[in-house]
Amino acid sequence: MKHPKLAIVTGSTRPGRNAEAVAQWVAGIAKLRRDAQFELIDIADYNLPLLDEPLSALASARMGTGYTKQHTKAWSQTIARFDGYVLVTPEYNFGVPAALKNALDFLHPEWNNKAAGFVGYGTNGGARATAQLRQIMAELQVATTVPEVGLSLLEDFENYTIFKPSDAHLPRLEAMLNQLITWSRAFMHLREVRHD
Ligand SMILES: Cc1cc2nc3c(=O)[nH]c(=O)nc-3n(C[C@H](O)[C@H](O)[C@H](O)COP(=O)(O)O)c2cc1C
Repeated sequence: MKHPKLAIVTGSTRPGRNAEAVAQWVAGIAKLRRDAQFELIDIADYNLPLLDEPLSALASARMGTGYTKQHTKAWSQTIARFDGYVLVTPEYNFGVPAALKNALDFLHPEWNNKAAGFVGYGTNGGARATAQLRQIMAELQVATTVPEVGLSLLEDFENYTIFKPSDAHLPRLEAMLNQLITWSRAFMHLREVRHD
């Protein structure tokens, strides 16, 4: 059976963001695996404005109208080609960063019937952003792994900016990747046989 293709998606577009270092750390470990392919996807590369499509992605898919903007089409093509996602997310004001929520909102069918895991960071491991993302992903028909990684801004970063992750996070990261790969593989089959 084909190995699932998984995207590691950065959840922040801020200049000087920690998201890049965290995503690189995840990629360094994930790419050692032989049972899946991983690719870094940076939402900053897509220059998505605040959602500017006239129809929601779901309505557009149901009516068969397609997207009107080039940036939406490019983002859609990228997300559609993956079987699952690792969302690397900071916590902003107890919630999901707007850039990530906006990037999720741009699309709908591209996310459906896939799996996602989370690597959060913040003073409490980004736990509130991750919890909100679980709810959002449910509407997007994405199964979210139970194991998640929560990095501490106080203990895993020096001066809040230099990323020095504790090895204590490695078993959680591996557990998350294990379930993500298993579920992504199962959804590859499901997408071929579904009747919706
Ligand atoms: C607008 C804003 C709001 C924030 N709110 C929170 C918060 O509610 N909880 C938290 O743990 N950290 C919060 N932080 C700190 C972020 O976790 C920290 O700055 C992190 O590095 C942001 O991710 P980024 O550097 O990849 O953008 C906030 C940071 C910003 C910029």
